[in-house]
Amino acid sequence: MTLSRRKMLGLVGGGVVLAAGTAAGAFVATRTPSRALAPWAAAGGYDDPRLRALSYALLAPNPHNRQPWLAELRGQDSIVLARDPEQNLPHTDPYDRQITIGMGCFIELMVQAAASEGLHTDLRLFPEGTGPSDPIAVARLSPGAAPDPLFDAVMDRRSCKEPMDMTQAVTAADIDRALSPLPANVLSAGTAEPTQVAALRALTWDAWMIEAMTERTWGESIDLLRVGKPEIEANPDGIALGDPVLEVLRRFGMMERAALMDKTSQGFKGTVEGFRKVFEATPAFVWLATQGNTRKDQIAAGRAWVRLNLQTTLMDLSLHPISQALQEYPEMKAARTQLHATLAQPGQTVQMLGRLGHGPAIPRTPRWGLEAKLLNA
Ligand SMILES: Cc1cc2nc3c(=O)[nH]c(=O)nc-3n(C[C@H](O)[C@H](O)[C@H](O)COP(=O)(O)O)c2cc1C
Repeated sequence: MTLSRRKMLGLVGGGVVLAAGTAAGAFVATRTPSRALAPWAAAGGYDDPRLRALSYALLAPNPHNRQPWLAELRGQDSIVLARDPEQNLPHTDPYDRQITIGMGCFIELMVQAAASEGLHTDLRLFPEGTGPSDPIAVARLSPGAAPDPLFDAVMDRRSCKEPMDMTQAVTAADIDRALSPLPANVLSAGTAEPTQVAALRALTWDAWMIEAMTERTWGESIDLLRVGKPEIEANPDGIALGDPVLEVLRRFGMMERAALMDKTSQGFKGTVEGFRKVFEATPAFVWLATQGNTRKDQIAAGRAWVRLNLQTTLMDLSLHPISQALQEYPEMKAARTQLHATLAQPGQTVQMLGRLGHGPAIPRTPRWGLEAKLLNA
């Protein structure tokens, strides 16, 4: 592809739009980051059942695709799970709540993968406490579990960061069915009632704008952009943008941080407009809350979220977490308080909130391979 410098500058100045967090549609064939997507094909293809379980677990949803998990095999049948603090999101997730939820998603898929071959997981959460470097869990596998039907959706589960089809309604019965496989230790609810949906859409959009207009929180996302095949292959995490036009711009130094941070640019305005359309096309919302907000509560919320995401996949529904209004930094305080007043009882914590509807097909997101995450490979 040959683009003149002027044309490229025109693209940046005239409205390069950063997608909502992943490439919309499939990657262009020659620019498919095959190595970054290889862990999807590798899932289940290991001799040791613990590696098989872990290879599915790493397909879990997790904030900004940071993939904070680390694992160590211990003895003949155990796994020690830890969290890599390098993958924290200090600005948008100052208490590591969301990153811990991502670990819960990982644990649930690990347990389901083991159960799919008849193995029960004896799980001890935070066996040494909840200090920043304490293990998250020790898991011991032994014979004696029945498969979970939700696991059938593991390869097709996605986070749908796209506008949903507003001509296809989500019914109250759909929401009940979507929430039906969730455990009782996590509170769950949803709404497709138009007035409630409109109010939540306004609140979550205001929160998205607060994050975008706050330098350090917007900068946290900008710093995690992986633009084009070489960057995605080198770091198969963060926010992957596979668009080949953006890749060319990046190569020619035309997507530098300062330009992406410029709130007056057409590019920023186009990005805001793109996300506004995503939020607008929201037929329903679902959310999860916990009575307390301990690390164990956060793990439970993550386990419940991925169960919901698998169930919606089986139902041909799309799910999109939108977390801005749940975040704990000072600029978000009013929005967070309002969201809690709307969705939870005093003292409860809303752990996850998502858009639910009929969405388009979404490509797989990149992953680090299992070998990169094993402490004693
Ligand atoms: C705790 C948590 C919070 C998340 N928050 C958001 C969010 O605010 N906006 C968003 O677009 N995706 C959010 N996601 C989805 C992740 O970006 C997504 O899981 C990750 O990029 C991997 O993509 P996948 O789920 O399609 O495999 C969140 C996921 C988790 C587990």
